[in-house]
Amino acid sequence: MKLALSTVTLFLFLFTFSTKASGLRADTPEAVVDISGEELKAGASYYVFPATGGRGGLSFNTFGNDTCPHVVVQEWSELSKGKPVQFLPLNPENDAVFTSTNLNIKFSEMISICVESGVWKITKRISEARHVGTNGTAGANQDFVNWFMIEKAETEGAYKLKFCPNAPYIVCQDLGIFYWGDDGKRYVGLANPGEFEPLTVVFQKANDVNAVMSI
Ligand SMILES: *[C@@H]1O[C@H](CO)[C@@H](O)[C@H](O)[C@H]1NC(C)=O
Ligand SMILES: *[C@@H]1O[C@H](CO)[C@@H](O)[C@H](O)[C@H]1NC(C)=O
Repeated sequence: MKLALSTVTLFLFLFTFSTKASGLRADTPEAVVDISGEELKAGASYYVFPATGGRGGLSFNTFGNDTCPHVVVQEWSELSKGKPVQFLPLNPENDAVFTSTNLNIKFSEMISICVESGVWKITKRISEARHVGTNGTAGANQDFVNWFMIEKAETEGAYKLKFCPNAPYIVCQDLGIFYWGDDGKRYVGLANPGEFEPLTVVFQKANDVNAVMSI
């Protein structure tokens, strides 16, 4: 019963602001660039670091004391780069990664004892939470919970990650960081009641050993 109620809560929340969705999608797509100024390539691996707000890169961890599955988190330490991800555009013919364009996000190496795809997906762990889980499905015709988007942030050179479904009437929402009590984890997800911090990011090519971490 509890599970059913929280599912209803999730869907009501996602539909609440649907009238705003079309406006958010009208931006003209632009090629996304990494911290070296290179255009992001579809399927290549990138670390995702906070542009503002500090601390480490994006990674995965379990919720609370769970063993499986994982959810997307921000590393606590600024010294940790996190785990690289791939951006997989809805249109597989796109070699580049553009803003305002539907894409799947996938951890390049989902090394885990859990059986998980590594594909990001809006999910819930407890009733009020909209976490980003790591067991989604990539590719066209997949469920709306699997779709994200990159948009330019107000800070020059920084970007926002949005949940932005490839489906009409469902609102696009910025991803941010939230935390519960004292479990010490910084979860990535949709705005939740309670502590929630906006997240702006930059990208670093994962195999680029010469790139200086200047952020
Ligand atoms: C996780 O385990 C610790 C230590 O056993 C416990 O204090 C804490 O309440 C647990 N957290 C959750 C969310 O169950
Ligand atoms: C991930 O999804 C697959 C396919 O639906 C399922 O078999 C598997 O158990 C899921 N993994 C976890 C950790 O829930």
